[in-house]
Amino acid sequence: VVTPVPVVAIDGPSASGKGTVGARVAEALGWHHLDSGTLYRLTALSAIRRGVDLGDAAALSALAAALPARFDGGRVLLGDEDVSDEIREEACSVGASRVAVLPAVRDALFGRQRDFRQGPGLVAEGRDMGSTIFPDAQVKVFLTASAEARAERRYKQLIEKGLPAKLESLMQDLRERDARDAARSVAPLQQQPDAVLLDTTSMDVDAAVAFVLDLVRDRGLAT
Ligand code: DC
Repeated sequence: VVTPVPVVAIDGPSASGKGTVGARVAEALGWHHLDSGTLYRLTALSAIRRGVDLGDAAALSALAAALPARFDGGRVLLGDEDVSDEIREEACSVGASRVAVLPAVRDALFGRQRDFRQGPGLVAEGRDMGSTIFPDAQVKVFLTASAEARAERRYKQLIEKGLPAKLESLMQDLRERDARDAARSVAPLQQQPDAVLLDTTSMDVDAAVAFVLDLVRDRGLAT
């Protein structure tokens, strides 16, 4: 009997802290890490740069299938260019949320995401890790926080980087993106019945990381 490579699937809304928690859990375990949102962000960035319409499913799925994406430490590369900061900008956030509603784009990125499942294990985060990409994941977490808490975290991050930010408009953007991610017909954001709820509204990153690591150990996937 071949034991499948263990996967921790972390799904949740924008700015819930999935990225940070996922990276820290992967590091603690010495496992691979997939931040699947970056693939949608890279697709949007490529489209914006080439003047491809964000509703053109055929052109976008071709772009997604051929993305020269590379992950190097914490950096995200498109070809040889480090686009880690650019893909976090608002235009790419909104663009990613738009291209992500297209089934053809999701299909084009399917195999690429599955390929990340390699020993000793994978920590994958996004919206549909536990539902669609890794439905047999041994650990599924639905990581969320109130819209207010998420907007405040994003606000602090931007201010710390010396970037302009308005709490009100961040909150509104988050709500719009949440609505689009949850309402789309393909792979909407939803807590899976077998996912453990982790609400970090009043929890810091260390506590959230410890919580997920405990789940992994409870299932006997790591010591
Ligand atoms: O997690 P994030 O904010 O980087 O994701 C960017 C967008 O990509 C988000 O609006 C939803 C979409 N996305 C998705 O549809 N499925 C995923 N597995 C990950 C992200």
